[in-house]
Amino acid sequence: MNYARIIGTGGYLPENVLTNAELEQRIETTADWIVERTGVEERHIAAPGETTCDLAEQASRRALAAAGLEPGDIDLIIIGTTTPDHVFPSVATQLQHRLGCHGGPAFDVQAVCTGFVYAMDIASRFIRTGASRRALVVGADTFTRIINWQDRGTCILFGDGAGAVVLEAADAPGIIDSRLHADGRYKELLWVPAGVSSGYDQTQQNAAFVEMRGSEVFKVAVTTLKEISEQILAANHLTVADVDWLIPHQANRRILAATAKRLGLPEVKMVDCVRIHGNTSAASVPLALDVAVRDGRIQRGDTLLLVGFGGGFTWGAVLLKY
Ligand SMILES: CC(C)(COP(=O)(O)OP(=O)(O)OC[C@H]1O[C@@H](n2cnc3c(N)ncnc32)[C@H](O)[C@@H]1OP(=O)(O)O)[C@@H](O)C(=O)NCCC(=O)NCCS
Repeated sequence: MNYARIIGTGGYLPENVLTNAELEQRIETTADWIVERTGVEERHIAAPGETTCDLAEQASRRALAAAGLEPGDIDLIIIGTTTPDHVFPSVATQLQHRLGCHGGPAFDVQAVCTGFVYAMDIASRFIRTGASRRALVVGADTFTRIINWQDRGTCILFGDGAGAVVLEAADAPGIIDSRLHADGRYKELLWVPAGVSSGYDQTQQNAAFVEMRGSEVFKVAVTTLKEISEQILAANHLTVADVDWLIPHQANRRILAATAKRLGLPEVKMVDCVRIHGNTSAASVPLALDVAVRDGRIQRGDTLLLVGFGGGFTWGAVLLKY
């Protein structure tokens, strides 16, 4: 049992949809500008009182149902999130409690938009060493809770959501390889300057809101997503032609298109949910994966390349046979 294999996927988006037409009413922008620069037409926003754990629970129950498992079959829960319900305990422990599968390890990973890719890498290592047999791996964020709705450079991009997979130990891949990276020198290109230890007050100047230098983030994201894709493929003696589906972090339509072009990957082989999801941070990769599994594009035996990029900066890739 040397591999971790996906046996079920699930996704959940909050009911409330925010369109570009509604954003036109709130800030100095146009729907055409947003679509042309980002590709986003609408995004889902968590209802008042609806938390990251609520979204994670819905996605997890769908992934468990798809896997044909009960919560009690799960012995590890890892959630990638930057917007936990509480400072502590973690979302993962509260999800474990709600599902009723007590006792196994459960923890959150904070790698912003790369959170799910980080969580997959870690879960895969737990399974490969025999420490776990079946893992629930989730990316969930209510990222719009840390958005300044007066900042037209950020509020147009983000949405809320959750995606989940169930991983099981298997004799054959499964996850072939995974790689994680970070470089803290880029902190101030994409960050929330306020925090628990440095202090924050949502009514004052040190409010906990996302700040981003968009065009600089854009350039690093495109270069990095291309490089991480090529590195993991080369290390496994594969080429872009061997990839059936590229599932990149759904940051922005232009970032996705530029990444596909630089890789020489036809855009039809890339899962793109930016138009209807926006950037859902850690949820974006598992949500896109779930959409393409459920609509039948992704078939058993396909080679998938999941790539993430986010604040920190953090980045990473997971190469797998579905
Ligand atoms: C944010 C982003 C869409 C802005 O697009 P851009 O083409 O880089 O635009 P710029 O930031 O250079 O701004 C160009 C102009 O548009 C303006 N602008 C910014 N947001 C606007 C909006 N919503 N509507 C209209 N105009 C806007 C700017 O103020 C600027 O005006 P100026 O020239 O008068 O100063 C783009 O940089 C981006 O998507 N970056 C990556 C962000 C991302 O994916 N982050 C998450 C990574 S995990």
